[in-house]
Amino acid sequence: MAAVGSGRRLRIGVLISGRGSNLQSLIDATKQADYPAEIGLVIANTAGAYGLERARAAGVATQVIDHTAYASRGAFETALSEALNASGCELVCLAGFMRLLTEPFVEAWWDRLINIHPSLLPAFRGLQVHERVIAYGARFTGCTVHFVRPAMDDGPIVVQAVVPVFDDDDPDRLAARVLIEEHRIYPLAVRLIAEARVRVEGARVRIAGAPRDDVSLINPRA
Ligand code: GRF
Repeated sequence: MAAVGSGRRLRIGVLISGRGSNLQSLIDATKQADYPAEIGLVIANTAGAYGLERARAAGVATQVIDHTAYASRGAFETALSEALNASGCELVCLAGFMRLLTEPFVEAWWDRLINIHPSLLPAFRGLQVHERVIAYGARFTGCTVHFVRPAMDDGPIVVQAVVPVFDDDDPDRLAARVLIEEHRIYPLAVRLIAEARVRVEGARVRIAGAPRDDVSLINPRA
């Protein structure tokens, strides 16, 4: 993806199914004058998605593309691509989008399609993530922004944030702490991509010019 220098902003599409708090973090980021991306379109696959209200409140274009109105996944995904292309979207951000996307769609948007997942991938793919993290006794969890590949929650990792798991955590408390980090790393990942600092090399991502924090985390510390 070409750098978006000289004032041009990368145009992103955001796909949602529900609450849309990650969408909100992207909306908030794009309000900053120096943020190198703008939201061209928010698509929900259900008219009741609360994120649609967030988009409307921010004056962002919205479209409902109801998957139940299409005879096949392929037809639904063609409608998604047409809407994204028609609004000039160059990067697609999945933000709590609860439909699996098939290979043709993923291939059409190869290296231009990213997702946020509330774990440190490749650990804890899928749903009920925080329940499983706690049941497993993991001491750390976190969240991941990654390029999408055909397998679920798979693909080159752009940014991760680490969150400690405490003995008295329940899934809701842990989810809330992870969500705070999600709202930091999704706008960060989009910014890095918009600045053309992200290069996909096979299964990996290389980031140009990233400062290093050489610290180790230990939990518990005593
Ligand atoms: C987030 O936890 C995200 O990581 C996952 O789905 C949830 C969406 O939340 N993919 P929201 O709709 O952005 O509030």
